[in-house]
Amino acid sequence: MATSSPRSIPRFSQFVALFLLLGFGKTSRAGDPPLTLDYYKSSCPSVLEIVRKEMECAVLSNPRNAAFIILLHFHDCFVQGCDGSVLLDDTITLQGEKKAPTNIHSLGGFRIIDRIKNMLESECPGVVSCADILTVAARDATLLVGGPYWDVPLGRKDSRTASYDLAATNLPTADESLPSIVTKFLYQGLSVTDMVALAGAHTVGMARCENFRARIYGDFEATSEKSPASEAYLGHLKSICPPVGGGNNTVAPLDYVTPNLFDNSIYHLLLQGEGLLNSDQEMYSSILAVQTRDIVRKYAADPIAFFVQFSESMVRLGNITNPESFANGEVRKNCRFINTWAPEI
Ligand code: HEM
Ligand SMILES: *[C@@H]1O[C@H](CO)[C@@H](O)[C@H](O)[C@H]1NC(C)=O
Ligand SMILES: *[C@@H]1O[C@H](CO)[C@@H](O)[C@H](O)[C@H]1NC(C)=O
Repeated sequence: MATSSPRSIPRFSQFVALFLLLGFGKTSRAGDPPLTLDYYKSSCPSVLEIVRKEMECAVLSNPRNAAFIILLHFHDCFVQGCDGSVLLDDTITLQGEKKAPTNIHSLGGFRIIDRIKNMLESECPGVVSCADILTVAARDATLLVGGPYWDVPLGRKDSRTASYDLAATNLPTADESLPSIVTKFLYQGLSVTDMVALAGAHTVGMARCENFRARIYGDFEATSEKSPASEAYLGHLKSICPPVGGGNNTVAPLDYVTPNLFDNSIYHLLLQGEGLLNSDQEMYSSILAVQTRDIVRKYAADPIAFFVQFSESMVRLGNITNPESFANGEVRKNCRFINTWAPEI
């Protein structure tokens, strides 16, 4: 699958490290007011309870909602930092991120965030940012499908801009090479370990045929064992996702063993060579996977180690912030529009 030579990787990541050291990375938290655990302690003491209750309802009615919210938080943070930019609708004067290629048919859960925002606006108007709501909601989503708990630092501001272009370039895609995906994580100040742990979120949720077609008609057969169960699984995937033409939006679980449970079985699938996405399987099977392969093995063997690292990496993901949003940011009244665009109530 991988085509570039392994020797070019260390040099390239050194270049990236230098780039970041010199401070050219656009998203960082240097100089920003730090996020704190008790940010809304006096201004909105019930914030955590309100988010949890809404998330309980949403995940109980459909576990996929947990996956939608976790993905939404990730796609928010990789584009101008965690500033709620992904939540903005297109308007005449603002091009949102929702129609960017990596987002257009993949995102969901916006109405859940709207519901939480409405509740919070009646409880403590103008106080809790949409970016913070999304961050807490992603933690609750994880917990509600069986994943770990962690404390969520708060105090993000919502952006008054979005970036279609950064959504198109910063977000990793299923058929991208491992070095290229690693580079995107390093650019955000995250490590290779963060990347492998965070990709463990693929223990829940679904992918569309468009994103696994190249995998099932590519090297799935080569990486997987020739067992009847594995062959039946591949046959099923091919039956719902034809090699050419339609079916692009037909979905299959990323973890077919326990699709609605946040556990470490995604890593077991990778050891068996049955990852649904090329990008996931590459972390174990690519000739460039020297470092990532060991991490995959570790999380497959030790679910606690995975949970501990996932929690830590989610805090680091949520810590990516655009200094712009602090200088020009706001607390949106409606997560879909910047405040000058909020419809009259
Ligand atoms: C390592 C690089 C990553 C790549 C290449 C990648 C790629 C993808 C792709 C292609 C899909 C299917 C989307 C679709 O078909 O519509 C997906 C789904 C998902 N991803 Fe990732 N992802 C990565 C990392 C992450 C991270 C860091 C998180 C969160 C911490 C995450 C959470 C999810 C979730 C929860 C889903 C399922 C969403 C649903 O059910 O609709 N992914 N990812
Ligand atoms: C979050 O960012 C701040 C400011 O750069 C930094 O001091 C802190 O260590 C970061 N926290 C984590 C958990 O990465
Ligand atoms: C399905 O996705 C492929 C790859 O992105 C694209 O080339 C093709 O035009 C899509 N087909 C339809 C019917 O949208």
